[in-house]
Amino acid sequence: MDELASVDGTIGPADEMRIPVTDDGLLRGDGVFEVARLYAGRPFAWDEHVERLKRSAANVRLEFDLDAALAEVDALLERVGAVDGALRLLITRGGRRVVIVGPLPQRPPAITLGTIQYAPTRVLDAVKSLSYAANMLASRVAREGGADEALLVTPHGRVLEAPTSAFFYVLDGRLHTPPLADHILDSITRRHVLELTGATARVLHCDQLVELEEAFLASTTREVQPVSAIDGRPLPATPGPRTAAAAEALRRRIEAS
Ligand SMILES: Cc1ncc(COP(=O)(O)O)c(C=O)c1O
Repeated sequence: MDELASVDGTIGPADEMRIPVTDDGLLRGDGVFEVARLYAGRPFAWDEHVERLKRSAANVRLEFDLDAALAEVDALLERVGAVDGALRLLITRGGRRVVIVGPLPQRPPAITLGTIQYAPTRVLDAVKSLSYAANMLASRVAREGGADEALLVTPHGRVLEAPTSAFFYVLDGRLHTPPLADHILDSITRRHVLELTGATARVLHCDQLVELEEAFLASTTREVQPVSAIDGRPLPATPGPRTAAAAEALRRRIEAS
């Protein structure tokens, strides 16, 4: 699929579209964004993404023309047709509305994680901001250590999430995920998985990672992705029964939407 983008309503090939170099979205990573997954041209849980974008923008004191942004998303979706892919909507501090539709990242059926120390920026609570350099670096450092992806843990050893996905784990036969109170992103996929599986939010400490029975990542673009090992230690089951059930329940909800 060719990547197409819209900048303030002008549509063209994504790699040819431009924003001013003076935009603080570029200079300081100041802005907000959303990524929704397209299934045959339709974004899943779009209303939830729009609500989160509005909240992110309000929290960083960024005013923008929501109606114009939504109309530009519709225009780009009409142009690309019934594709499977990713829809990205960015609002920059410089006031640019950017929409990009492109292919999904290629992902293996299961993934290995390496723990990386990370302290969430409190002031960005409940903001999906453009400032992702720390998340991207965490992934890079994890890959240097031989894992596929990072598992972010606080300096006090509380397990949080991955750089672009929520983390779920099975301990004592039950499915859990770290709590939002630990300043992780209020992931939309996490919300759906919690609702569908009856999982509960529960703190997990690093030293309990050896006891996990199963684990998976959850995000808009991944849906549910089984974790096969953490810090070089294989998990007993990949995918385990809880992971397979969560993946299946989410798939059914997406197909029914
Ligand atoms: C830090 C972080 N956590 C979790 C997620 C998953 O969120 P969602 O399910 O809304 O895609 C993302 C998505 O990009 C993320 O960046």
